[in-house]
Amino acid sequence: GSSDCLRGKRVAITAGPTREALDPVRYLSNHSSGKMGFALAEAARKAGAEVTLIAGPVNLATPAHVKRVDVIDARDMRDAAERAADLCDIFISAAAVADFRPASVAEQKIKKREGCDESAITLVKNPDIVAGIATRSERRPFTVGFAAETQQVEQYAQSKLQRKNLDMIIANDVSGSETGFNSDRNAVTVIDRHGNTQLPEALKADLARQLIEIIAVKAQK
Ligand code: C5P
Repeated sequence: GSSDCLRGKRVAITAGPTREALDPVRYLSNHSSGKMGFALAEAARKAGAEVTLIAGPVNLATPAHVKRVDVIDARDMRDAAERAADLCDIFISAAAVADFRPASVAEQKIKKREGCDESAITLVKNPDIVAGIATRSERRPFTVGFAAETQQVEQYAQSKLQRKNLDMIIANDVSGSETGFNSDRNAVTVIDRHGNTQLPEALKADLARQLIEIIAVKAQK
């Protein structure tokens, strides 16, 4: 790569959605493509890092020389992320983790009932993976989160930075269709304790390179 800013560093990145089982054939999930997390993994690797990529179910090829750990649901992702965080210098949480999961998983396929036009699912909160890592008292990596918002983007991101004890948060506006979730392009604002930096709309691969350089500088300090 052109930059060696992460030479000798170990980076762990979560990416993609999680999938929360309802019964043997159904699940709750979201539209995350995993593209931003995979682009970050590739950029970190090219910047010299040893990279572990913890991926939810996505249709993306593993970037060259990146160690990939596939997971399905939030609790599996948490376990893999905690293990990787024990060994890493920088943890980047790009996954769109399902906030809730069904309270129980039916053992058999849930059946329709004759004459029953309504149904309800009880949900329980999933663990907050990045907050768990950022609030560690020992072996705490430099921790970066994402905030996908549709309104008041910077205010919501700022409050997540504090609430989750992150070192940095990357805010993106997902209200438009040109950027964000499934797109190849994105525009973000990088927020830390010292202030904001806006990165104009670009290909996710280009944005990932810029973000990795910023993270490398901030993680030094
Ligand atoms: O609170 P919200 O889901 O908007 O926060 C987004 C950030 O928190 C992202 O970095 C996401 O990867 C992370 N997150 C997590 N575990 C959750 C929910 C969100 O690590 N259960």
